[in-house]
Amino acid sequence: MQPLKLSYVTRKLHIPSLVLALVLLIGLPSTTRSCNQQEKTSLFQFLAELTQDGDLATSWHNNKDCCTWEGITCNMDGRVTAVSLASRSLQGHISPFLGNLTELLHINLSNNLLSGGLPKELVSSGSIIVIDISFNRLDGELQLSSSTAYQPLKVLNISSNLFTGQFPSSSTWEVLKNLVALNASNNSFTGQLPTHFCTSSPSLAILELSYNQFSGNIPPGLGRCSMLRVLKIGHNSLSGTLPGELFDATSLELLSFPRNDLQGTLEGQNFVKLSNLAALDLGENNFSGKIPESIGNLRRLKELYLNDNNMYGELPSTLTNCTDLIIIGLKCNNFSGELAKVNFSNLAKLKTLDLMQNRFSGKIPESIYSCSNLNALRLSSNNFHGQLAKGLDKLKSLSFLSIGKNSLTNITNALQILRSSKNLTTILIGHNFIHEPMPEDDIIDGFENLRVLAINDCSLSGQIPQWLSKLKYLGILFLHNNRLAGPIPDWISSLNSLFYIDISNNSLTGEIPAALMQMPMLKSGKTAPEVFELPVYYKGLQLQYLTPGAFPKVLNLGMNNFTGVIPEEIGQLQALLSLNLSSNKLSGEIPQSICTLMSLQVLDLSNNHLNGTIPDALNNLHFLSKFNISNNDLEGHIPTRGQLGTFPESSFDGNPKLCGPMVENHCGSAEARPVSIVSTKQSGSKVIFAITFGVFFGLGVLYDQIVLSRYFG
Ligand SMILES: *[C@@H]1O[C@H](CO)[C@@H](O)[C@H](O)[C@H]1NC(C)=O
Ligand SMILES: *[C@@H]1O[C@H](CO)[C@@H](O)[C@H](O)[C@H]1NC(C)=O
Ligand SMILES: *[C@@H]1O[C@H](CO)[C@@H](O)[C@H](O)[C@H]1NC(C)=O
Ligand SMILES: *[C@@H]1O[C@H](CO)[C@@H](O)[C@H](O)[C@H]1NC(C)=O
Ligand SMILES: *[C@@H]1O[C@H](CO)[C@@H](O)[C@H](O)[C@H]1NC(C)=O
Ligand SMILES: *[C@@H]1O[C@H](CO)[C@@H](O)[C@H](O)[C@H]1NC(C)=O
Ligand SMILES: *[C@@H]1O[C@H](CO)[C@@H](O)[C@H](O)[C@H]1NC(C)=O
Ligand SMILES: *[C@@H]1O[C@H](CO)[C@@H](O)[C@H](O)[C@H]1NC(C)=O
Ligand SMILES: *[C@@H]1O[C@H](CO)[C@@H](O)[C@H](O)[C@H]1NC(C)=O
Ligand SMILES: *[C@@H]1O[C@H](CO)[C@@H](O)[C@H](O)[C@H]1NC(C)=O
Ligand SMILES: *[C@@H]1O[C@H](CO)[C@@H](O)[C@H](O)[C@H]1NC(C)=O
Ligand SMILES: *[C@@H]1O[C@H](CO)[C@@H](O)[C@H](O)[C@H]1NC(C)=O
Repeated sequence: MQPLKLSYVTRKLHIPSLVLALVLLIGLPSTTRSCNQQEKTSLFQFLAELTQDGDLATSWHNNKDCCTWEGITCNMDGRVTAVSLASRSLQGHISPFLGNLTELLHINLSNNLLSGGLPKELVSSGSIIVIDISFNRLDGELQLSSSTAYQPLKVLNISSNLFTGQFPSSSTWEVLKNLVALNASNNSFTGQLPTHFCTSSPSLAILELSYNQFSGNIPPGLGRCSMLRVLKIGHNSLSGTLPGELFDATSLELLSFPRNDLQGTLEGQNFVKLSNLAALDLGENNFSGKIPESIGNLRRLKELYLNDNNMYGELPSTLTNCTDLIIIGLKCNNFSGELAKVNFSNLAKLKTLDLMQNRFSGKIPESIYSCSNLNALRLSSNNFHGQLAKGLDKLKSLSFLSIGKNSLTNITNALQILRSSKNLTTILIGHNFIHEPMPEDDIIDGFENLRVLAINDCSLSGQIPQWLSKLKYLGILFLHNNRLAGPIPDWISSLNSLFYIDISNNSLTGEIPAALMQMPMLKSGKTAPEVFELPVYYKGLQLQYLTPGAFPKVLNLGMNNFTGVIPEEIGQLQALLSLNLSSNKLSGEIPQSICTLMSLQVLDLSNNHLNGTIPDALNNLHFLSKFNISNNDLEGHIPTRGQLGTFPESSFDGNPKLCGPMVENHCGSAEARPVSIVSTKQSGSKVIFAITFGVFFGLGVLYDQIVLSRYFG
């Protein structure tokens, strides 16, 4: 999913002359003649089919002249030319009687709750040129008329409805000779695409069929669409290769087939024919081969998406000639070589460069640092080495930087350079800088807009650095898998925006500070509604976050050397979804207050020296899906009457003094509860668990991301 995708091209491509003509018609005074009785009757018949008319009836019944009615436009002769009733919460069916309005040009019923079908009478009307019924709940098969009478229809937008079944065949489309724009995206059409759109509709300029279930090959006949500028059939199940004939449609400006099962290579001699191409999206298919040299001939190219394919080889130097490029998305392929061949300094308009998960090597080319408009740069999961170069601080617009999982060195240098990019909100640089020291306090400054910081998996030595204390917008902090020592500093509580803290697997010592129990965002509070420039991947490619706020509220202090007791004040962190204090040297009892953390889905206190009994009230934590208190020194009964009864033996293991039905040590007969009661209650709580699981389907996902391997890009 690429949020920026293809937007500017579509904006440019509304059907200008047509719309202009309509605007002129609509703009003229329409009161010269009032409407005739027959047209009025047709409109009332339309109204009669609505079960919810958004107060139209009031307006319409109060006035004799239908030309003055809300949503109705007439011409000089008092004949209805437009029915414009978008976004009126209309429900019910679309009446075929609209087809009796003999001078009707324009129907816009977009964004309502209309159901049923699209009456054939409208599509085959002798007058209507624009039908927009997008964003409704229309269903059934799309029926076109087989009448051969002249049909002037130019624009048909049936997108975002519930239409199903096979798309009408080529011969049915044949009568729509004037069709300019067809948008049937976001329905549930199945079967093959019609083979010959443009022998019948030679004026077709926009064809959008994305988000359906079309299968089979791309019909070569599309190549006859000499006027076609926009072709979007992404998110279907198309297979086979791009037919050579397709490239005869040389007016194409936007060619978009993401997320299908297409394969084959990109043939240079084909692509050069598309000299008007501004956006190419072939992402998430199975294309192989190299990017052809001739790509340099596509001088108007602004957006290039070839992500998530099996493409390989070096990026051709000719890419330098596509000087209009704004977005380059090549992540998740097998591209390799040094990037040095491409002179990025020519690509002055570039805003997004995403090369994540390839096999690029060498140094990060300094020519990238001349792209002064660059907003998002993602080079993570490649084989880049060396240090960041000084020029990076010229990227004043840079907001998102992800260079994790390479072999970069000198983190001190990296942070000193990055701090002057004032607009940085996301920095993901983990899995680099192995065994270096965490940079000293006084030299790092800046980062005042930082929201997300990941310096995980670097085996860094040193302490949690003081410069973090100045990051007042920091929401997410990943420092896990390093070798940081010393205590959690008290200033942590001044980080008013921080809601995801992972400092696990370090060598931190001391007690869990009271300051940590004061974190405002862990106590309550809404995360800011910000959006990542690129979706952030987590745990390989399995989880994708579009916004920082989609991350859960997490405190992970596991695998350190913390001592002392779990503070009673932990109960203040009411917003926590996951609390991990495992594998430390914590002692004393499990505080009762933990049982009030009602949002908890993950609670891991395993591998400590906790003693005393298990608080009964932990059973109140109905959302808990992962629970572990194994390897402590707990004693007494395991309270199995609620949520705790749903967890396996491994959650309780290694506490010799614990007893209960799920551990080896069954409670002595004098103390034991009757087994039958335990098991019924247990199954009862399983039902509760199943229900909560159904509601919070993200549980498994959360568990994975917290417990299993963590990697970002
Ligand atoms: C009006 O439309 C209805 C429904 O399509 C049709 O049955 C009827 O014959 C039409 N009447 C006229 C006068 O065209
Ligand atoms: C229909 O109305 C909606 C909302 O005003 C508008 O966005 C859309 O462009 C209109 N459709 C056409 C074809 O003009
Ligand atoms: C429906 O599609 C037409 C043609 O592409 C377009 O002009 C119109 O704005 C679209 N309607 C909406 C609501 O987007
Ligand atoms: C087609 O409709 C969808 C919404 O249903 C819209 O997002 C898209 O921009 C439209 N495409 C064109 C080319 O107008
Ligand atoms: C598809 O249609 C639904 C319902 O109108 C809408 O919520 C959704 O955003 C649309 N999706 C796309 C990709 O246009
Ligand atoms: C991708 O294409 C290759 C041939 O290039 C083929 O061997 C492989 O099975 C395809 N993979 C999928 C998932 O279709
Ligand atoms: C870019 O275009 C120029 C002028 O057309 C040409 O001379 C040059 O060889 C091209 N460069 C690359 C790298 O393709
Ligand atoms: C990537 O390319 C290399 C050779 O350049 C090949 O050995 C490797 O198998 C390829 N990897 C994938 C996932 O295709
Ligand atoms: C930095 O971000 C702000 C706020 O998002 C924006 O207004 C400004 O233009 C950006 N600066 C640059 C140099 O891009
Ligand atoms: C790391 O960067 C710092 C600051 O730029 C520099 O002083 C130092 O010499 C660099 N260290 C190495 C090993 O290159
Ligand atoms: C904890 O401290 C002990 C010594 O007290 C040391 O052996 C151990 O490696 C430390 N563990 C961690 C995770 O730092
Ligand atoms: C738990 O351990 C602490 C020492 O860490 C001790 O003071 C306390 O008495 C113990 N409590 C129980 C119930 O054994």
